[in-house]
Amino acid sequence: MSVRHYKLGLLGCGTVGQGLVELVARNRALIRERAGIDLRFTQILVRDPGKKRPGVDYDLLTTHPEKVINNGCDMVVELVGGLEPARTFIRHALSNRKHVVTANKALLAADGMALLRAAAEQRVQFGFEASVCGGIPIVRALEGGLVGNHIESITGILNGTCNYILTRMSEAGVSLEEALKKAQAEGFAEADPTLDVDGYDAAQKLKILSELAFGGALPPDSVEVEGIRNITAEDVEAARKWGYTIKQVAHAQSDTQAVSLRVHPVLLPNNHPLASVRDENNAVLVKGDAVGEIFFHGKGAGSLPSASAVLSDIVEIASRRRAFPRISGRALETSKRNTECQHYLRFPVEEPSAIGSISAILEKHHVGVARAAASWAKNPAMNNRVTILTLLSSEGAVRDALRCISDSGVLKGNVTSLKIAA
Ligand SMILES: NC(=O)c1ccc[n+]([C@@H]2O[C@H](COP(=O)([O-])OP(=O)(O)OC[C@H]3O[C@@H](n4cnc5c(N)ncnc54)[C@H](OP(=O)(O)O)[C@@H]3O)[C@@H](O)[C@H]2O)c1
Repeated sequence: MSVRHYKLGLLGCGTVGQGLVELVARNRALIRERAGIDLRFTQILVRDPGKKRPGVDYDLLTTHPEKVINNGCDMVVELVGGLEPARTFIRHALSNRKHVVTANKALLAADGMALLRAAAEQRVQFGFEASVCGGIPIVRALEGGLVGNHIESITGILNGTCNYILTRMSEAGVSLEEALKKAQAEGFAEADPTLDVDGYDAAQKLKILSELAFGGALPPDSVEVEGIRNITAEDVEAARKWGYTIKQVAHAQSDTQAVSLRVHPVLLPNNHPLASVRDENNAVLVKGDAVGEIFFHGKGAGSLPSASAVLSDIVEIASRRRAFPRISGRALETSKRNTECQHYLRFPVEEPSAIGSISAILEKHHVGVARAAASWAKNPAMNNRVTILTLLSSEGAVRDALRCISDSGVLKGNVTSLKIAA
């Protein structure tokens, strides 16, 4: 087989960039054999060339983006992250007719369609497999293997940090704060965990997947987002006793009119495929009209899993196996669903006997009670509580009932209300 030499300009050499350098060095011969491509880095952009980067050729490091983009490379790989200067680097590379591969979910969620359009106009390729679910080839599946399907829904665990925290809470019985500290110590959570814990990271990824799956651009803030901060060890334990596991779930559903998108903590029945996804792993269930449900599972982040996804884009583009992107100019309509589902409700109360009046108000609003429990607090610093699993009820009815219960004066704090997946 003849071998083509292919030159990569690398922007950023941090967690994923170093993983890519390591993986290319490790599997260069394999890629040559499989794809007939010999990969080589021309220049590598960093902020601080003095930093230790094991396995990286220090002679290739530069602090000048121009030297990476306009130095005869065939492709620019953007692994800087964030909106700026990454967007400017990518636009500059595209306007110089360079293929681009990126792992930048923040930028894709904000500007993905515009960047794809710019790439299509220049007749160059734009790969972003690593931007969602690290090592899981979900972008490729939506673009390729599932292209003959109308995608009906996407349901996933898209944030490894939240999944790690909820797994620790469930398996070790610890509080969210303790689980978060452990996640930070193990390197699964940022010092500032806001994007993860408050659901925005999963929302960015859901938006990217949905634009691909449903074929159009979604408006900013199209995802309804609810974080996991209010989940307590008691919620996790109550859910477990009733046969459920609490997970942060990202869900997109399309019908002929509109797409609804949501990231929220949900009680999943223990036999649900996403319930057994542990630790920092990610998983996605895609439902297509022809194929039915398909399940993807694996490492959603980390140096080598993410580098694996970046490398898959590089090799596919370098070996010219990919058609040029076709961009739909369609703007997708969004809607908020008022779904009927069961709900888990936790009420902090003065006296557990409040269970009677709470149940009565729920029934009055046609919110049936499937299970109810009253518990005394383990220590005086905590509230007594009433927990309830409702029958199938509309979100609107539950909202109205909770308003009345709050007004009734039996509560000592805010209600926690979580949906239960079927
Ligand atoms: N980490 C993951 O597991 C993961 C998974 C999937 C996707 N991603 C995405 O991959 C991208 C990279 O993430 P990462 O975790 O590898 O980030 P990172 O460790 O922070 O690395 C960023 C790299 O970019 C360089 N850099 C940052 N700002 C720069 C600037 N203004 N000029 C020049 N160089 C600059 C840094 O240089 P210095 O090294 O000199 O500071 C560093 O080498 C992000 O878009 C992220 O969302 C990450």
